Amino acid sequence: PKRIGILTSGGDCPGLNAVIRAVVKVATYKYGWEVYGIPYGTDGFIELLVGKRQPEELRIKEHGYDIPGLVQGLDILYFLSGSVLGSISKGDPEQHAEDIIKGYEKLGLTALIVMGGDGSIEILDGLAQKAAEQGASWNWVAVPKTIDNDIPFTEASVGFDTAVNRVTQALYDLTFTAASHDRVMIVQVMGRDSGYLAMEAGIAGGADAILIPELTPVLNEDVITGVCCHIQELQKSGRRFALVVVAEGVKNHLGQKEHYIGDYVARHIKECGSKMCQINTSDPNYIHPFDTRVTVLGHVQRGGTPTSSDRLLATAFGREAVDLIANGNYNQMVIWENGRVSSVPISRVIEQIKKGRREKKAPSSVDPQGFLVRTARD
Ligand code: F6P
Repeated sequence: PKRIGILTSGGDCPGLNAVIRAVVKVATYKYGWEVYGIPYGTDGFIELLVGKRQPEELRIKEHGYDIPGLVQGLDILYFLSGSVLGSISKGDPEQHAEDIIKGYEKLGLTALIVMGGDGSIEILDGLAQKAAEQGASWNWVAVPKTIDNDIPFTEASVGFDTAVNRVTQALYDLTFTAASHDRVMIVQVMGRDSGYLAMEAGIAGGADAILIPELTPVLNEDVITGVCCHIQELQKSGRRFALVVVAEGVKNHLGQKEHYIGDYVARHIKECGSKMCQINTSDPNYIHPFDTRVTVLGHVQRGGTPTSSDRLLATAFGREAVDLIANGNYNQMVIWENGRVSSVPISRVIEQIKKGRREKKAPSSVDPQGFLVRTARD
């Protein structure tokens, strides 16, 4: 039977195990193929090459890895976040390209399914090109996954919906303590270069201000004053607490990244003087300085059981990836577009990633209602 491989690369997110489950089920039941789970990203190929692991160990059986007592593994893993395959590449794949390609060949794979974000897709594309130069075989299909949702062409990536829900829940939880203490809560949300997560969760969670790299790349005085004045207006109308969401990709007034941009926002909001907002300090509702608290949500945003939407997306992507391989349609990335699963050539995805980086443009724009909208960037 045909052998296909599957690996996770880069940061984990909820729904990866659901993709693995879908791939194994479709490959096994629809096509009668064998599926090999490559542990720890491309490192798994090196371990295989040097004999640290044997091919048989990597075979994912019908009911999951052949671990005694875990015969129903895949259907249980379906509900768990993280990646059962591990997702860290300790070595630099570019440096170890030859060994990785040899490991791929040693396993006799027809094709490889890679769950990755933009960085991983670029790295894997580099490996594919190197393999082609050497006349080695390297067929692959990419499945977009990231809580940042910043991969070109696809409207949704695996893990995003779960992260939106988790951040939304955190905002809800913070609302009551904020209201009880008349505080301004600053919530730092993940998104290295993009604000999708901050924007969607911020709107769903009722944030009063949302700072994202697409709209406020730099927190200059105007931005900070705008937020301050808005909060003071709220206070004037009787609302004495506020929620401010800031995506970690937003930069300080010098255009530099801060490790804890949430702290920076809190500090500056606190300092923001009443004169800037032309607010009457004798107003009975006036409160200054703001009592601020910062919550950095961090990696809890990547945890939790995948939502039903993420499970559906992961299942649709997993099935599509296997079907693409069955049709010999390699070097494609599966995408979600207009309510259905489809695919685009990886070369086009790479072009867009590079273009976005060159132009230092966020992969999105903002519609008149203030919602972020995906642009195909072509
Ligand atoms: O998955 C993308 C992301 O969540 C970014 O938003 C964040 O900056 C990054 O991963 C952090 O990942 P790590 O700490 O695992 O390197």
